[in-house]
Formats: sequence, C-alpha cells, structure tokens
Amino acid sequence: MKFSSRLDQLKPYVFVEISRIIAQKRAEGVEVVTFGIGDPDIPTPNPIIDRLVEASRTPANHRYPETDGLPEVRKAISTWYKSRFGVDHLNPDSEVLPLIGAKEGVGHVAFCFLDPGDIALVPDPAYPVYSVGTMFAGAESYTMPLVEENDWLPDLDAIPSNVARHAKVIWLNYPNNPTGAVADREYYQRVIDFAHKYDVAVLHDAAYSEVVYDGYTALSFMELEGAKDVGIEFHSLSKCFNMTGWRFGSAVGNADMIKALFKIKSNLDSGIPQAIQEMAIEALTGSQRYIDDNNAIYQQRRDKVIGALTRLGLGVVSPKAALYLWARVPEGYTSASFAAQLLDDTAIVVTPGSSYGDNGEGYIRLSLTTPDEMIDKGVERLDAWRIPPPSKE
Ligand SMILES: Cc1ncc(COP(=O)(O)O)c(C=O)c1O
Repeated sequence: MKFSSRLDQLKPYVFVEISRIIAQKRAEGVEVVTFGIGDPDIPTPNPIIDRLVEASRTPANHRYPETDGLPEVRKAISTWYKSRFGVDHLNPDSEVLPLIGAKEGVGHVAFCFLDPGDIALVPDPAYPVYSVGTMFAGAESYTMPLVEENDWLPDLDAIPSNVARHAKVIWLNYPNNPTGAVADREYYQRVIDFAHKYDVAVLHDAAYSEVVYDGYTALSFMELEGAKDVGIEFHSLSKCFNMTGWRFGSAVGNADMIKALFKIKSNLDSGIPQAIQEMAIEALTGSQRYIDDNNAIYQQRRDKVIGALTRLGLGVVSPKAALYLWARVPEGYTSASFAAQLLDDTAIVVTPGSSYGDNGEGYIRLSLTTPDEMIDKGVERLDAWRIPPPSKE
C-alpha cells in the first residue's frame, strides 16, 4: 500500500490509545477509574430522546438531509443565541450552519482558509483538531503558548508582526480545554482589534460555554460588537445536553465564512440525520434546567477531586468552567511518566498534558465525566497513594 505522507504526520488520536489501555486493564480484571475523555456519563435528557423516537418514524427523516440542515434547526440555534447570550443579530439562513458535532466543522474549516504553506495561529496546549486540520490543509501551525502567568490566554503582542501578517486564521477556545481557563470581554476585544490589524479570521471554539461553576457565566465571542465582521464561533450540544453520541454542533457568525464552510461540507458530507436535528431543536428550545443540573453534579465532583489532588500535593486551580482539572505533576516526572505511574499504582486513567502540545508538558488533565461512585473510588485511591520518587532514567 502507498499511503499519504499526511498519514505519517498524524499521531494516533490520544483517546484511541487511552481506550486501548483501559480495555486491556479491564480484560485483566482491573477496575479502572477513568478521568480520561470528556464524554458526559449522564444520559441525554428524556424529552430529547422522546423527540428522537418520534422523529425516527417520519419517513422524510429517513432520506438524505440537506447540508445546511432544517430551516427550523437553524432558527432554533439563532433563537438560542439570543436567549442565552443576548445575541440577536444571527441570520438563521446565512449566519448559522449546523455541524455533525463541533469536531467536524473544526476539522473542515481549515480547508476554507488554508493553502499549502499558509500559517494558522494555534494555541498550545489545545484541542488537537486545530493543528491536525491545519496539517491536512498543508499549512503550518504557529504555536501560541498558553501559560499560567498569562491566565492561559495567547499573548497576542508576542506574535511577531511578520507572522501575524502572513497568518490567515487564529484559533481560540474559551472556556478552554484542557486548562479550564476563561476569557473576558476585554480579551475578546483585543482579538477583534488584532484580527482587523492583520486581516486574520477568528475561529472561536465555544464547545464548553455552558459548563460553568460557582455562578460564572461564559461569554460568546459573538456578544462583542464587530465579532461577526472577523470570525465565526463553533458550538456543540455534546457537553451541555450530554449528546456526544448523537453528534450535533454548529458554526455561527460571518456570512462569507459560513458560506465557505457550507461549500466544503456539501462536497464532503451529507448533513446531520434529520431525526438528530429534531433532537437538537428539542434541546435548544426546551427546558434549559438540564444544564444547571449537570453543572451542579460536575461542581461537586470538581471539588472532591481538587481536594484529593491538593492533599496529594499537586498544584491545581479550581476552574470556573469546562469539564477538566489541569494539575501540575510533581518535580522529576513528565506528564506521561506521571500518568503511567498513576495507572500502574492505582488503576486511575488521566490524560498526559503533553497530548495537547509541548506546552502541556508538566501537567495532567482529569475529566469530571465519571459517575459519582467512580469519582469516590478515585478519590479514595488518590488519598491512599504515596507518590514514589521519580525514576532516574
Ligand atoms: C475544545 C473542543 N472543541 C470541540 C469538541 C468536539 O465537540 P463535538 O462533540 O461537538 O464534536 C471538543 C470535544 O472534546 C472539545 O474539547
């Protein structure tokens, strides 16, 4: 077989490897506690499932969907943006595009902007799909380091002007995976100014906007005056309505950018199954209390696990948002060696921070999407664990 050189550049997707390790441990009879992937363990709310069951019996829903989705689902997205964020300017027919989960749009959007040799500004650590999409398009990622001293926000002033001038897109993701950091209005304003100055398209991934704690409310980039002139925002029903398995997300914002993404998608995929679009309509227009119910559960878990990590001596800050704890590994360990030691000693799975980029080295990420009883087991195991001195090799 003669595979593409692109394939050689791809590392195995981190959670494929983690799933393999978990399956192997379980086959050996080990009870694994996983703080790995951010995949809500709480089921999809019943009214959303009921809508699917009903919608599945409609013959029209058995046929190819349109790439740009049902007009009703686009309307539901724009109305939700209005009720949730006060964003009342999104035209459902030209500024809203449903996606087969945010990941699909995040991956495909690179083809709208990037040609071989082009530059994308990509945060590090980050959700890996930003740089993978960039690589698929033959372009280069210019790394914007996320560091604690800068509240895990890219330092826009540190991007050399010759790089900024050549860059075509800048990726941002707040609330942030993996650090749990958030961005405020002032920062987004600086991003808009940067985008105008250098003619760079802003791609903001807001997949975690609804997963918030301690009364915090996340902003949409679209709330900023002029955001729509420079960018689009990706959203997802995966995390807020426990719908990872159903695959529904959206892109909203700049009409030219939405049109470009539509053009790419219509040539590559055939839209979201319509019964699932009906689920999305139910989620977006129905009760929003499920979001608060979920967040109350995650917040309790967050506090329990933060307690255990702190007692263990790891540096960790309680996040205001997103599903993750981002903890510093002890001196002498790398992200991977610490994750491996933890797995060997306690059968607890975490994700090495280095899987999110070079700047994630020195951290581990723990997802809170583990059932309560497993959280309690994890906390017990962490409390009983004595971290061995790192090996000298
Ligand atoms: C930052 C970020 N964006 C997008 C996604 C993908 O969301 P979806 O399930 O809608 O594809 C994830 C999933 O973990 C994520 O962490």
